[in-house]
This record gives sequence, structure tokens and C-alpha cells, in this order.
Amino acid sequence: MKVLITGGGGFLGSKLAHALVDSGQLRGEPIDELVLADLDEPASIDAPFTVRGVAVDITKRAQVDTMLADKPDIIYHLAAVVSGQAEAEFDTGMRVNLFGTLHILEAARALRTCPMIIFASSIAVYGGNIPEPIEDWTELNPQTSYGTQKAASELLLNDYSRKGFLDGRGLRLPTISIRPGKPNKAASSFMSSIFREPLQGEQAVCPVPPDFTHWFLSPRRCIANLIHAADIDSAALGPNRCFALPGRTHTIRDMVEAMRRVAGDDPVNLIRWEPDLDLQKIVMGWKGRFNPARALQLGFLADDSFEDNVRYFLEEDVQPK
Ligand SMILES: NC(=O)c1ccc[n+]([C@@H]2O[C@H](COP(=O)([O-])OP(=O)(O)OC[C@H]3O[C@@H](n4cnc5c(N)ncnc54)[C@H](O)[C@@H]3O)[C@@H](O)[C@H]2O)c1
Repeated sequence: MKVLITGGGGFLGSKLAHALVDSGQLRGEPIDELVLADLDEPASIDAPFTVRGVAVDITKRAQVDTMLADKPDIIYHLAAVVSGQAEAEFDTGMRVNLFGTLHILEAARALRTCPMIIFASSIAVYGGNIPEPIEDWTELNPQTSYGTQKAASELLLNDYSRKGFLDGRGLRLPTISIRPGKPNKAASSFMSSIFREPLQGEQAVCPVPPDFTHWFLSPRRCIANLIHAADIDSAALGPNRCFALPGRTHTIRDMVEAMRRVAGDDPVNLIRWEPDLDLQKIVMGWKGRFNPARALQLGFLADDSFEDNVRYFLEEDVQPK
């Protein structure tokens, strides 16, 4: 079994790569080769099978063709520019998130081997005046360029699957928290930094009020769900291969209290509450309540509580000073 991860040097891509190396198998078959593709060549990982990092720009069709020349059986397509960047740089967002995805679909089609493509979509495909909770049949009405690029990619993934060119699976990821490392250009970045920084002894600013409500999943559970996506029988997916993953609705207040229960008062006291009205204009329109019935029925899972997210961060990702 050959597996390729685009965005393999990113946050979720590198966590997925380590999880696949640890398990050594996918879809019940041993992995022979794992290729990690990103703009900068990702570092290899020690493994009992071949792990290769390759430098690829998915906006360049010829580079994508070369990346797929090995005929991977399963492609995780995670490469993207995130929401804040896609909004600020419209052309970059279109080139990477839409045309880059199309390059991958077209290169996969040209293989004539019907590879599986597991695509990281986003709950940003929902928006506008729609009732909550979001149901599986709720219309897609993104209110950002990023969400629009993800929604357009989902339609293409469905059509390429319908034509038998590939076996697509599109997972609409909740906001993944607690994200390790540095703040990124996603408008949702604060939803990790207000926990990550205090848990590492640093101050952080919360730009929204405590009753801000959103839909979350931990990195650990997200990776387990990405792996589970490969296990599902193609026939079980039916004519729409894209759906929202399970998550949990939390207010910022509830999450801060969960952090207090796991890590005590000290990290909570490091949060400064400073409203950012421009950022609030973007994030207050996001949807926070979902009924992911289809994903649950397909065996995808959410965390039990935000305390899980805090514990996982402390176990896996906290950086010693
Ligand atoms: N993390 C979240 O909360 C979240 C939520 C919803 C959806 N997603 C989606 O999940 C996927 C992974 O997210 P992440 O948080 O790991 O993001 P990330 O930014 O850490 O990783 C994305 C990777 O894509 C790479 N990339 C960007 N442009 C590229 C190009 N032209 N060619 C090749 N590689 C390129 C980047 O270098 C980066 O390493 C993305 O598609 C993202 O849209 C993430």
C-alpha cells in the first residue's frame, strides 16, 4: 500500500504521518511507502518502511504529475492556505485551494487506477442565514473565499468519484484545538493560542467574549478520524461523499473552565480579555452547532469533553521551556 500526504509537513499532515508510521498499516493493509509532500521537503521519519519527503508546489500541474507518478493507493489531500490568508490573498487562495486541488484530481484521474482521495474540507463551507444546528442536508453557503474554495473542491471530488476517476471522501473538519506551535494566519488561531500559550506559561489575548460558541475537535481525534475515513467501504458513502465530522460545541467560558480543571488557576490567569471588533466580524458569523448524524453513523467520533483536548496537548505537544 502506497500512501501520499499533501501538506505532509503541516500540523495535521505531520501528525497523520507519525500515526501511520506507528500503526504501519492502513485499511487493514501494510504500508510499503509513505510520501510526505509540501512546499519545503518534509523531514523523513524513521519507519520499518520507506518514508520520503518531497518538495512540491501543488499550483504547478507538472510537479503534481511527478508527485503522483508512483501511483499512490491512498492520497490524503491536506495542503491548503488557511482561512485568514485565503481571505487576505484572494489569488493565492484560488491557486492553492481550488486549482491546486483540481491539479490533484486531474493527475489522479490520469493514473486510471481510481486512487482513494481523502480531502480535508472545513465547516467554513456553511454560512449565511441558516438555522442551527447544521444538519447533513444544510445548504453550503460559504461566506469566505476559503470556504468557497473548499465547497467548490467538494463538488469536484463528488463528480470525479461519480465518474469513477477516483474514490473521494471529503471530511469537513471542525476547528482543531489545541493546535501546537506558533499562531497561524487562520482567523480561528486564537481558539488554540488562548490555551496553548497559557499552558506553556505565556500570556495570551482572547479577542471574543466568553460566550462565543464554536465547534471543536482535538488533533488526536481528528487524526483518528482521518485514518477511519480510509476504512469505510466506498458503497457506504452514497452519492455525496462529503460530510461534517463530529465535534463538540463549546463556549470559550466552558473551555477555559475545562483548562482550569485539568491544569489549575495559573494558566487561566494568563488570559487577557481584549475585544477585537474586526476579528469578531469574521468569526461571529461562523456556525457553532452541528448534528453530524451521517459521520456518527459511519463510525467517526468526537472527543468526550474539552478536558480531553487539554490533556492531549499536555501529553503530546507541550514544549519544554
Ligand atoms: N487545523 C484546522 O483547524 C482545520 C480546520 C478545518 C480544515 N482544515 C484543513 O485541514 C488541512 C490541514 O490543515 P493544517 O491545520 O494542518 O494546516 P497547515 O497550514 O499546518 O498545513 C497545510 C500545509 O499545506 C502546505 N501548502 C500550502 N500551499 C501549498 C502548495 N502550493 N503546495 C504544497 N503544499 C502547500 C503548507 O506548507 C502547510 O504545510 C487544510 O486543508 C485545512 O484547510 C484544518
